[in-house]
Amino acid sequence: MYKLKEIADKVYYVGVNDRQKALFENMWPLPYGVSYNSYLIVDEKTVLVDTVDVCYSDIFLKKIEDALAGRTLDYLIVNHMEPDHSGSIRLLRQLYPDVQIIGNKRTFDMLEGFHGIHTGLLEVKEGDTLSIGHHQLSFYLAPMVHWPEVMVTYDATDKILFSADAFGTFGSLDGAVMDVDMNLDHYWDEMRRYYANIVGKYGNPVQKALQKLSGLEIKTLCSTHGPVWTKYIPDVIKIYDELSRYEGQDGVVIVYGSMYGNTEQMAETIAASLAEHGVKNIVMHNVSKSHASYILKDIFKYKAVIIGCPTYCNQLYPEIDSLLQKIEIREVKNRLFGYFGSFSWAGAAVKRLAAFGEKMNWEVVGTPVEQKQGLKQDKYEACWELGKAMAERI
Ligand code: FEO
Repeated sequence: MYKLKEIADKVYYVGVNDRQKALFENMWPLPYGVSYNSYLIVDEKTVLVDTVDVCYSDIFLKKIEDALAGRTLDYLIVNHMEPDHSGSIRLLRQLYPDVQIIGNKRTFDMLEGFHGIHTGLLEVKEGDTLSIGHHQLSFYLAPMVHWPEVMVTYDATDKILFSADAFGTFGSLDGAVMDVDMNLDHYWDEMRRYYANIVGKYGNPVQKALQKLSGLEIKTLCSTHGPVWTKYIPDVIKIYDELSRYEGQDGVVIVYGSMYGNTEQMAETIAASLAEHGVKNIVMHNVSKSHASYILKDIFKYKAVIIGCPTYCNQLYPEIDSLLQKIEIREVKNRLFGYFGSFSWAGAAVKRLAAFGEKMNWEVVGTPVEQKQGLKQDKYEACWELGKAMAERI
């Protein structure tokens, strides 16, 4: 029934789209949905690469059945065990009891833990190969991109890299599967957001994986999320390379918390000064309105960050506190940092923002501004100077 997209000779896309889930990992918004990609190679042996979220197993298994056209499934390659890709393994095994599951030692530990499966396994190590007929597959480990068992599979025949989550993006596939067949506009920022939210902490492992894979000729890049990349592979690799090196573009993210608008006025003044002094890329986030997912994306995207908030219960404004924790977990490096804050009777926020900058080892730019109650002329000027200093430093 299904007219499945053949992305290369006898390699079919059998993934699914999820436009129902509001939050990926129950945390990260999905305004454009998300796809769970899976690929079936129909050769002398039949090989499935990864599965999909269990919520979509029914349609997924029907697609596989159609593509197999009466044949059985010989192998399942498990590049990644996170349940958005491994969720359908148990059902798949019930339908194809003889399928051999290919993974590494760590894969099998998780396979037992999540699904109680411990038989019919074929363990592979770094660089191992498998001939399935016309296609010649090889396996490379990519630990901590972003789980420890992650590996990638390379088809040397058609130069396809099945890359697990690496090079993935939020955004469902709305009809087309290949990058050249669709409007890609919204995927680029969604790719940054996916990286910042999901993979962000693991810059070094991503760099190691990029170096390891740099020797492979890749004509088709098949991630577990988002379009199948061909023409735009260099653009995708460039984004992942920049993000994993924590290399920000020229621009400033201003994140602020404000209960009654006094701290917000400080943020407005800094932004106006940045613009007056020539900065074009300025992104402002009211931390109580913007979801942290988007703030993190912009902090990964741009090289300068200015954060401000009021003192609350002699602490940081809680929403800012929560954001700082998310930034710290991701070990975001090499940012230019400005900060400001306010208080009504006793100041604590600015001190704590200073401690945060120190812990992150970020370069402090300009003089921090601390304001008591409403914005007055001298603090207005100080905010203006902070904006000017950052504009000059970028
Ligand atoms: Fe898309 Fe790490 O799972």
